[in-house]
Amino acid sequence: MAFNVNVNGSARSVDVDGDTPLLWVLRDVLGMTGTKFGCGMALCGACTVHIDGVATRSCITTIDSIGNSHITTIEAVGATAAGARIQKAWLDHEVVQCGYCQSGQIMSASALLASNAHPNDADIDDAMSGNICRCGTYVRIREAIKLAMQTNKKGG
Ligand code: FES
Ligand code: FES
Repeated sequence: MAFNVNVNGSARSVDVDGDTPLLWVLRDVLGMTGTKFGCGMALCGACTVHIDGVATRSCITTIDSIGNSHITTIEAVGATAAGARIQKAWLDHEVVQCGYCQSGQIMSASALLASNAHPNDADIDDAMSGNICRCGTYVRIREAIKLAMQTNKKGG
């Protein structure tokens, strides 16, 4: 069945079963492999994308549930103000180790910053608790989010 979806500002048509997870549409149909598969059960956060700006696990989001909502992936989040600040802070703090979880981490962090310009530690914990990093980059992730927040305060 054909579904029309808006991905990173572009209208795309995909021909898949309605219960196909968005993750597989992105990766296998649209060739956008920046969004990662980890658990397939909404437990690790590797597959996080934004749907209308909300951090969402694409592994359990079926294509027939999306409708006219706007999907943003790691390939385009840097074009958003919050995403650009988060990505710069990630580089400044050299957050990444193996990198596998990092698309999802950046998507969750940028959704947080877009919805809350001044998150406190509890807000950060709440937003990031579903994103698992086997390399243990959690301390640098928290520092990078705080740096991005400070950049925002300066208007940068
Ligand atoms: S692959 Fe979606 S949360 Fe793990
Ligand atoms: S950087 Fe390796 S799993 Fe997070």
